[in-house]
Amino acid sequence: MKILLTASSRHGSTEEVADVIATELRQGGHDLEVVRPQEVSSVEGYDAFVVGSAVYMTSWTEEAVDFTRRFRDALASKPVWAFSVGLSGLPHGKVTDPRRVGPVLLSLDPEEHVTFAGRFDPSRLSLRERTIAKVGGASEGDFRDWDEVRTWARSILAALSAS
Ligand SMILES: Cc1cc2nc3c(=O)[nH]c(=O)nc-3n(C[C@H](O)[C@H](O)[C@H](O)COP(=O)(O)O)c2cc1C
Repeated sequence: MKILLTASSRHGSTEEVADVIATELRQGGHDLEVVRPQEVSSVEGYDAFVVGSAVYMTSWTEEAVDFTRRFRDALASKPVWAFSVGLSGLPHGKVTDPRRVGPVLLSLDPEEHVTFAGRFDPSRLSLRERTIAKVGGASEGDFRDWDEVRTWARSILAALSAS
């Protein structure tokens, strides 16, 4: 199957999650293309999609939201798996719940949507971002669980081979 994996990241942690998903999907023998959402000009010819975004201020990034808008009709007729990367739900992490990216996900109607824990590394952020995240109660650290990410990617492979 030809699969498009597109993920939007501001500071790299979501991109690295996407890389791990890509490695798993390729090992499953699929023809996988990884393209940033703002660089996708056509979605013709793909059989399935994996779409992800970092969550900022309860939303997917503008680029990810724009991707879902531009290709909503095409995406509606194919299987889509969605993932968010955020910090909510982590120890002391009070930044707003990533599941509230609701409208985007509703428009995508994904087979599944998961939220992976992300990374809060103040040294990579602007003063403004640092302040917002700190006020939001974010804990410093890299909370990404690579086994969880791999397991999810494998579940996509299983679903694709069953279809
Ligand atoms: C300014 C700012 C706002 C954030 N807002 C949210 C949020 O609303 N919900 C959430 O779960 N995580 C939030 N986060 C955490 C990010 O989603 C997390 O750091 C993620 O790993 C960033 O991904 P990236 O490195 O791919 O950009 C926020 C982080 C920053 C710096």
